[in-house]
Amino acid sequence: MAVIERINELESEALAAVSGAGSTGDLESVRVRYLGRSAELTEIKKGIGTLPVDERKQVGGAANRVSRSLEAAIGSRSQDLAGGEREKRLREEAVDVTLPGVPYPKGSLHPTLRIIDDVVDFFVGLGYRIAEGPEVETDYYNFTALNIPPEHPARTMQDTFFLDDGLVLRTHTSPVQIRTMLSQEPPVYVVCPGRTYRRDSDPTHTPMFNQIEGLAVDHGLSLAHLKGTLAAMARHTFGEGAVTRLRPSYFQFTEPSVEMDVSCFVCGGADQNCKVCKGAGWLEMGGAGMVDPAVLSEVGYDPEEFTGFAFGFGPDRMAMVKYGVPDLRLFFEGDLRFLRQF
Ligand code: PHE
Repeated sequence: MAVIERINELESEALAAVSGAGSTGDLESVRVRYLGRSAELTEIKKGIGTLPVDERKQVGGAANRVSRSLEAAIGSRSQDLAGGEREKRLREEAVDVTLPGVPYPKGSLHPTLRIIDDVVDFFVGLGYRIAEGPEVETDYYNFTALNIPPEHPARTMQDTFFLDDGLVLRTHTSPVQIRTMLSQEPPVYVVCPGRTYRRDSDPTHTPMFNQIEGLAVDHGLSLAHLKGTLAAMARHTFGEGAVTRLRPSYFQFTEPSVEMDVSCFVCGGADQNCKVCKGAGWLEMGGAGMVDPAVLSEVGYDPEEFTGFAFGFGPDRMAMVKYGVPDLRLFFEGDLRFLRQF
């Protein structure tokens, strides 16, 4: 019978194609060609119903046998090919773990950032929250709400960069105090690191510099709490031997106001020729004081019920003294030869 012969022919043709397939992709085309929906064998099977009854059984049996034999052949060829392909891939992708690695250049933290991290960590450890504010600030937050009204001479202390529409580049991080107090009820314990700007440029001043503000408002806070907090912060940042002292000072938004010094951690005041403190024995850290009642009233806190203290440090200055860097401007030039030393 011609159909049976054709089926047997298809079988040998297909088996040859199976063993000739060089990849799993080839093998899949062979499968589609001989067993797929429009393959000749499939067409033969579909036509069985139209054959004379006595031929149906024979043709059907032959067709099914060939389908099964092809499927089996494809299955085993597929395993061989996949195994071979996996081995080839493994060989090609093999990694020689004994080769020396490619050196990966490691960055280092900017000295100011180290101080900021260190100081902020200390305050977070005491339960302070981190607060932030915008660098482009309104006159109100930067001055007026801090008890520095328009036309007040204290404004000239701050070499301000004025922008249009009553905006300024913030001259200190103190506006974050106001923003924080306006957004929550006491008790307040926040530390606010950030960039600040003043029209100033010399070895110890740059137009952009960093500050770390702190603010605590609660029942019964006193200057003693401020002093204890600052002393503990200095010991944390400069070492257990660090001693602090407060000197009277003046800020519009604190009363009383103080300037805080830390003992020179290099010579401790013992060396007249000390490069870091220049023989003074003390290093300036920043300003601080008890929050002025006028500021508390401005934000709607009752100054009869609450008191607070605030402080503002210069982490760039602190980094200068801690790492013995003579010129602040080096910090902002981005010279890798300088930065890699930290
Ligand atoms: N904002 C002040 C300054 O930049 C520092 C300061 C902060 C003083 C908080 C007192 C309290 O000069």
